Amino acid sequence: EKVPVSMEINGKKQQLSVEPRTTLLDLLREQLALTGTKKGCDHGQCGACTVHINGMRVNSCLTLAVMQEGKKITTIEGLANGEELHPMQQAFIKHDGFQCGYCTPGQIMSAVACIREGHANSPEEIREFMSGNICRCGAYDNIVSAVLEVKQ
Ligand code: FES
Repeated sequence: EKVPVSMEINGKKQQLSVEPRTTLLDLLREQLALTGTKKGCDHGQCGACTVHINGMRVNSCLTLAVMQEGKKITTIEGLANGEELHPMQQAFIKHDGFQCGYCTPGQIMSAVACIREGHANSPEEIREFMSGNICRCGAYDNIVSAVLEVKQ
């Protein structure tokens, strides 16, 4: 049986009805068609599903939708300012911070959190903070360069 839950997603209030066991990831992708957030492993191992909840980085595959009552969710779709890309999106393009692109939304959401949470003081610290975001193409050096540029 579905239960009601309301939350703000990318600045828009949403009154929703969800199965109690639906993850935030499935709510975003399947109910709201916000498919920028990716499903890699679906069990907390890859970071492709990273979103922000009240500004904090979270793996949305490990989080139930019903627990988001009153929370503010930001996904990759909510990062740009209208037509203008977020500085981190611009830096990923400039530094070639991706190849196939599948992990990129999660990488960018983590990278924004890395700076906001004060963990971007050195390449080592950035790598440590972002170690839960796996990139099968191995774009790690370029991702670190992008984060360092935005940090300045
Ligand atoms: Fe959530 Fe992999 S899909 S961590």
